[in-house]
Amino acid sequence: MCGIVGYVGAKPAAPILVDGLARLEYRGYDSAGVAVLGPNEIRLHRDAVRVRELEASLPKRFGGRTGIGHTRWATHGVPSQRNAHPQLGAGGRVAVVHNGIIDNAAQLRAELLADGVTLSSDTDTEVLAHLIERSDEPTLENAVLAALDRIEGTYGLAVLDQAHPDRIVVARNGSPIILGIGDREMHVASDTAALVRYTKQVVHLDDGELATLKADGYQTFTRDARTTKTAVTVDWDTSDYGTDGHAHFMHKEIAEQPDAVRRVLKGRLDERFHTVRLGGLEMDARELREFRRVKILGCGSAYYAGQAGAQFIEEVARIPADAEPASEFRYRNPVIEKDTLYVAVSQSGETYDTLVAVQELKRKGGRVIGLVNAVGSSIARECDGGVYLHAGPEVAVASTKALTNMMVGFALLGLHLGRIRDVSPADGRRLIGALQALPDQIETILADEDHLASVAKDLAVAPSLFFVGRTRGFPVAREGAQKLKEISYRHAEAYQTSELKHGPLALVGPDLPTVAIVPADELLERNLGALQEITARSGPLTVVTHDGVGLGVEPTHVVTVPKSEPELDPLLLTIPLQLIAYHAALALGHDVDKPRNLAKSVTVE
Ligand code: F6R
Repeated sequence: MCGIVGYVGAKPAAPILVDGLARLEYRGYDSAGVAVLGPNEIRLHRDAVRVRELEASLPKRFGGRTGIGHTRWATHGVPSQRNAHPQLGAGGRVAVVHNGIIDNAAQLRAELLADGVTLSSDTDTEVLAHLIERSDEPTLENAVLAALDRIEGTYGLAVLDQAHPDRIVVARNGSPIILGIGDREMHVASDTAALVRYTKQVVHLDDGELATLKADGYQTFTRDARTTKTAVTVDWDTSDYGTDGHAHFMHKEIAEQPDAVRRVLKGRLDERFHTVRLGGLEMDARELREFRRVKILGCGSAYYAGQAGAQFIEEVARIPADAEPASEFRYRNPVIEKDTLYVAVSQSGETYDTLVAVQELKRKGGRVIGLVNAVGSSIARECDGGVYLHAGPEVAVASTKALTNMMVGFALLGLHLGRIRDVSPADGRRLIGALQALPDQIETILADEDHLASVAKDLAVAPSLFFVGRTRGFPVAREGAQKLKEISYRHAEAYQTSELKHGPLALVGPDLPTVAIVPADELLERNLGALQEITARSGPLTVVTHDGVGLGVEPTHVVTVPKSEPELDPLLLTIPLQLIAYHAALALGHDVDKPRNLAKSVTVE
């Protein structure tokens, strides 16, 4: 949520900043802006536009070898030129870009106004620029620390000061800040996506840390002392951030799923002992056997993947397991149990609600592991080990390949927990075989794209839809509804099929299509009964099912996927729903990769 970049070195800063912003635009795209240090003043260019428009409108003379930039997802103040970042102090000497929320901004704004300061935006960030600029501290570092002492809230921020032209000062509390170490130049960004073109050596700041960046290096510190950091090498490449000939990132990421699944499985399946190797867990079998419950925490689609994961774990490993939105868990003062294995699941590894839930768990002595895609991200670093998802960078706001790899990750974890308990070698072999078959089976579903596109065009016409599934199929229905909502802006609601007759059936009729998840499993008869109930009320039906299932009704559309083992069916049943959402959004003419009001990485509360 909001992307920050900064550069200090010998090259013109603006093109580097704009290039970085383009790679961070998925974090917010309400407005964009850059500021560079000119010889005598800070040069500022910002507007409520996308990054490419900002670039096209950059003034000819916009030189400067030190600068900061921002792409915004509005929290305080509507998207507009005056609310875009960077925000300047009243004298124009200090510029700030900020990701996060300053909770006491209203009070600080009132104090500044009472002091005669003219405020020129509605943002919370502007107060920081004034506080830093008005500080009497001799160094920029101390001025930033003094300003941070006055604020309550979260931030990842970068500060430029005309009086200290050799440096950028950055600070982190709750929002990611990553330093990129170049050759006689330094970069900073909210995400490695903006850095990989320039360097593979990065340093992640921790909460409470600040850093001074100069062309010849960096120094990290806290309020009390200098800190020592170890740089890590990033293995994602610039090419991972291109669309690779696809019309949209979402399409590319859907197409990448067979390879993404191969990557998350690689080296982890033990065919000799019919089990799984999870080297990152940092817990041995004896410790893992002690856990009596599994609790999964994530947000949005990651939470739905967690629901599917909980079902897998409970079914296979026979450990009671459930999932809960991390955003709710952290606020309800939950009882933390010593014999519960907590699992945080996140693509970005930066989702604030999930991160804070992990921190709360750890504060209270909970054991928490991560299922995380972004290596070295905040959640990954907070957890006691975990399973990296290896989906590669996901740029489209609507999550697809990361979600699929989350489901695979949970299957690996569930199988591992099961094989050190009661799961037999035969069941282990059965599930390993099914996992190995997934990439080719996903290819088969992707080959059905033309058909799915025609289903999508038909469904896109309806203003409101139901998605239904039961037990294993319910998280699939929830994710199908979520994808459609996010990018087609159609109202889509998911129910357990079994719940239809307890209320929602009242809405079913010729104008409300239902997408029903009907796997060939032990609940087939029950699901078929529900199809009858929908058809009897003239509700248009799209059924996502397996080959050879006699539905007993004539749905408007039938989509089939290859059969896996029942515990893994949900993963394959989800894939066609991604393509349906994608093509519905296309048919409606929406910006598939950057849906309105959303951002990829939700680093605010
Ligand atoms: C949906 C989507 C969001 C994310 C959620 C969690 O397509 O992308 O619902 O799943 O914001 O994000 P991560 O996984 O980065 O924690």
